[in-house]
Amino acid sequence: MVDTAERYRRFATMEARGHSPTYERLTAAIAEVPGLLALIDQLPPAKRQPNLLLAAVRFLGGPVDDLAAFQEWTLVHWGRVRSTMLERRTQTNEPGRCSVLLPVLARLPQPLALIEVGASAGLCLYPDRYRYRYDGGATLGPSDSAVVLVCDTTGAAPLPARLPEVVWRAGVDLNPLDVTDPEDARWLECLVWPEQHQRLARLRDAMRIACAEPPTLVRGDLNETIRDLFAAAPAGATPVVLHSAVLAYLPPEEREAFTATMRELGCPWISNEAPGILPAVDRRLPLGPRPDRLLFTLALNEHPLARTGPHGQRLEWLPDPTSS
Ligand SMILES: C[S@@+](CC[C@H](N)C(=O)[O-])C[C@H]1O[C@@H](n2cnc3c(N)ncnc32)[C@H](O)[C@@H]1O
Repeated sequence: MVDTAERYRRFATMEARGHSPTYERLTAAIAEVPGLLALIDQLPPAKRQPNLLLAAVRFLGGPVDDLAAFQEWTLVHWGRVRSTMLERRTQTNEPGRCSVLLPVLARLPQPLALIEVGASAGLCLYPDRYRYRYDGGATLGPSDSAVVLVCDTTGAAPLPARLPEVVWRAGVDLNPLDVTDPEDARWLECLVWPEQHQRLARLRDAMRIACAEPPTLVRGDLNETIRDLFAAAPAGATPVVLHSAVLAYLPPEEREAFTATMRELGCPWISNEAPGILPAVDRRLPLGPRPDRLLFTLALNEHPLARTGPHGQRLEWLPDPTSS
C-alpha cells in the first residue's frame, strides 16, 4: 500500500491535474508536510482520502486555496475535521451520468421502475426530468428543465427520440443523503471540486428537482437489500437495476455476490463502472488499445455497450460485436 504522502502526490498529478488547479496545488503541498501527514495517518486507511479531507475542511468553512492558511486552520480545528471525515463519506452524486444511461433506459420495455444501488442522494433516478444535448445534434427532455446535460458522443450511439417513462424510483445506499436536508445538500456541494462551477450549478438544480419529489432511498448494503427492492417494484413496469461509480467500493467477493444475484434476478441491469470492476464485462470488451483508465464501461447485463466519461460528459459507443 502506498503511504499517505504518495497518495496525496498521486492525487495531485493523476486526479486533480487538469480538473482543479486548487486541489492539485494543495494536495501536492500537503504531501510534503510531515505534521499534516501525521494527523491524516491517525485515521483508518479508507478515511485518509484527499477528497474527503478537502471536502471536510470546506464543509467546516476552512480555506483550501493556500497551504499556509489551510495548515494553520486545519491544525486548530483538527478535532472537528477528524469527526467530519469519520462521519461522512465521498458520495459525489453526479446527475450528468444520466446522459450515458439514457440511451439504454429508452430502449427497454416501458414504463420503468428504477432501482439504483449506491444511489447517494438519488440524483441519477431522475433521467426523465433532465434535458439532454448530445453533440450528434439530438436534444430532448423537458424544455423548461433547469438541468441541461451536455454529452459528446462517438460511434453509433442509439440516441433516443423520446425519454423513458419512469413510474417508480427507489435506491439503496450505506448512507443515503437527503436532498431536503440542508447539511446533506451542503456536503454534496463540498464534494464538487472548487473550479467546477458548472457541475456545482447543475448539482444544485438537480437537487431542487429531486426535492420536489424525493426518491425512496433505503439505508443498507446493496447485497442485503437488492432482493427486497426488486420485490417492491410495482407490477406492470420493467424493474431496472442500475449503478455508477459504486462497485469499486466493494471488495471483490461482494462484487461477485452482487453479480450472482443480478444474474439470478434476470432483470435489465445497467452498470457504469471503471475497468477491472466487473470481470465478465472486461472480458467482452473489444480488443484494442488499452482504454483510458479514467473512462467507465457502460454495460447491460454484463454486455459492454460504451465507454463513458466518469461524469457522463462523454459516450463512446462500441461497435456491435455481431455486426463484423
Ligand atoms: C461515488 S458515489 C456514486 C453515487 C451515484 N451512484 C452517482 O453515480 O452519482 C458511491 C456511492 O456508493 C455507496 N456505496 C458504497 N458501497 C455500498 C454498499 N455496499 N451498499 C450500498 N451503497 C454503497 C456510497 O455510500 C456512495 O454513496
